[in-house]
Amino acid sequence: MAAARIPTVALPSGATMPAFGLGTWRMGESARRRAEEVAALRHGLDLGITLIDTAEMYGDGEAERIVADAVGTRRDEIFIVSKVLPENSSRRGTIAACERSLKRLKTDRIDLYLLHWRGSPPLSETLEAFQALVKTGNILAWGVSNFDLGEMGELAHLPGGDAVATNQVLYNLSRRGIEFDLLPWYRKRGIPVMAYSPIEQGRLLGHAALREVAARHHATPAQIALAWLARQDGVVVIPKAGTRAHVEEDLGALELKLTRDDLATLDGAFPPPKTAQPLDML
Ligand SMILES: NC(=O)c1ccc[n+]([C@@H]2O[C@H](COP(=O)([O-])OP(=O)(O)OC[C@H]3O[C@@H](n4cnc5c(N)ncnc54)[C@H](OP(=O)(O)O)[C@@H]3O)[C@@H](O)[C@H]2O)c1
Repeated sequence: MAAARIPTVALPSGATMPAFGLGTWRMGESARRRAEEVAALRHGLDLGITLIDTAEMYGDGEAERIVADAVGTRRDEIFIVSKVLPENSSRRGTIAACERSLKRLKTDRIDLYLLHWRGSPPLSETLEAFQALVKTGNILAWGVSNFDLGEMGELAHLPGGDAVATNQVLYNLSRRGIEFDLLPWYRKRGIPVMAYSPIEQGRLLGHAALREVAARHHATPAQIALAWLARQDGVVVIPKAGTRAHVEEDLGALELKLTRDDLATLDGAFPPPKTAQPLDML
């Protein structure tokens, strides 16, 4: 497989990030699978996938160490996203958590650092910590995850809150709630959305409509689910693939062009929302 040309999305700062990357949730949980996980991520990098999404939570920090092993000397080519846990998101806690992540990642900077979900520390404290970390160069941009519209509004009203670079949320064919209000809110402000669990952790794969569209393209259901997200402007897709074969298959989604008929079939099986819905989370 030749190295892929991955499209990018613009961040509000004017910087860019790749629109397709690899997730790492559930990595680092089994010593037996570790080598395969490092190899899968490294294979992705070899194929031109330069975005990796991780978090201090994943494998209790072990996923970040796996990312470090996969990235090796290629740090400058890679866009690393990591996340602080809500219970660490006080001003001092966020800075300390970031320092621990940097050590595990064996790097001096995180490209995009997110609050994993809203916790009890005041949001203003997390924001102050993010701003301090940007100043020291420990992070290059910051964002949030699992924020609903009310929480985004609250954030936008804090000093400097409008610099939020992304909201990483659950978004796939079977979880289209954000299309009603959240997605338009971001589009209006030029803020990209990171779509997590893009194949619903595998639960989407047996769906008849996906299989039907996949057959039309000689593709797989996973590729159709990913292509459906990847075709949308301002959406960053981060499937987790623990094997080299899945990495290749998932990357192949970027070659697919869904037709109007395909989209109609998928809309019929997974209807878009007609009313506002509470934000789904995994
Ligand atoms: N911010 C948040 O709260 C949050 C929450 C959830 C996820 N995330 C991020 O988003 C990433 C992706 O979400 P996810 O891991 O929950 O779910 P996902 O990417 O929808 O699905 C991952 C699962 O699908 C399998 N898979 C991948 N490619 C496949 C293929 N081509 N054919 C068949 N199976 C395939 C993987 O198996 P193998 O491992 O065997 O390849 C794994 O079991 C996470 O890893 C994480 O980085 C963030």
